[in-house]
Amino acid sequence: MNKLLETISLRLIRHLPAETAHSTTIKLLKLGFASSKDLKDSELSETISNVLGLEFRNPIGVAAGFDKDGEVFDQLAQLGPGFVEAGTLTLEPQAGNPRPRVFRLSSDNAVINRYGFNNKGIMNGLQRLSKRKDKSAILGVNIGINKDTQTPVEDYLECLTHARDIADYVTVNVSSPNTPGLRSFQQVEKLEELLNTLIKASLKNNDANRPLPLLLKIAPDLRNEDIHEIVDVAVSSGISGIIVSNTTTSRPKNLLDAKQHEQGGLSGAPLFELSTQKLAQTYLAAKKRIPVIGVGGVDSAETAYTKVKAGASLIQLYTALTYKGPRLFSEINKGLSKALKNDNIEHISEAVGIEADYWVSKEV
Ligand SMILES: Cc1cc2nc3c(=O)[nH]c(=O)nc-3n(C[C@H](O)[C@H](O)[C@H](O)COP(=O)(O)O)c2cc1C
Repeated sequence: MNKLLETISLRLIRHLPAETAHSTTIKLLKLGFASSKDLKDSELSETISNVLGLEFRNPIGVAAGFDKDGEVFDQLAQLGPGFVEAGTLTLEPQAGNPRPRVFRLSSDNAVINRYGFNNKGIMNGLQRLSKRKDKSAILGVNIGINKDTQTPVEDYLECLTHARDIADYVTVNVSSPNTPGLRSFQQVEKLEELLNTLIKASLKNNDANRPLPLLLKIAPDLRNEDIHEIVDVAVSSGISGIIVSNTTTSRPKNLLDAKQHEQGGLSGAPLFELSTQKLAQTYLAAKKRIPVIGVGGVDSAETAYTKVKAGASLIQLYTALTYKGPRLFSEINKGLSKALKNDNIEHISEAVGIEADYWVSKEV
């Protein structure tokens, strides 16, 4: 799609209620809109190599929640990201919370959502994802639990067992704020039990030459002490990486939009500083034993580079995609490449964490 058409479509979509805008975007993607070849261009593809034992063509990925049911993996891959994380998928299909449940805070470049894991169930999503044609982008599958489950650990385990032969990596989501009790899996005892169970299962995928990286996604509302404990439990149980962060239940004082009082998780620009600080804390606690994936408020090459310097080996984004459109992937990749050259940094991995101390001590 040419730039003019893209700008017009973005403007039109933005006039729709937020959830309708999203379902319309998914429909347009399915119809083949926004698949311009030039968006594939990534100057970083040569420099990014191996994270999590996987080959990423570039470090920018689509965060979970955008393609909840794995409906548009091939179409998203064509837009140039290095990876796409489908989900969150739960064992059973579920409708999620009553509408309206997602709100644009346009004056803050932010979104609040309380979807509550609306999805068609893991088998439905995986069936579609198993037919993906585009292998140029890495496929992550994010798993969660149904609202009314009495057997959460078993549910996570079953989701993982189904996903392990289809996904390139699986993310254990214990951090969405819209499923009661979910975040309690961030308490160390519960987390340890869960991760020990899941790690064993992740090692049993059909292809012994393809170990399945299991990632943990955490909330930005944890204290520094909690993060240290979580990282230690995660590393000792065998987790391959940590994603920081999910949406926040906090509300920064400087929000402008009246919709800021809606219940749910806040994402986008106002989440940037908080999630970057938690990323830096996680990076330092991990002591280079496992990589950290930075997500929260990335909307430009500059913010992506800041995440890298705070400790991110890979980056994800969601909210900015809804405000700025798919050109963001090539824009960020080109800008990152340029920024690294300006700083005389040959490989992005050399920049990872160089400002982590600054971000940990910064007042946010
Ligand atoms: C509408 C919406 C739905 C989301 N759904 C999920 C989800 O199902 N699972 C998940 O792990 N994260 C979900 N997220 C969180 C994002 O993956 C990401 O962690 C968060 O939005 C911060 O990134 P951003 O500021 O770039 O949006 C969702 C975010 C938004 C805005």
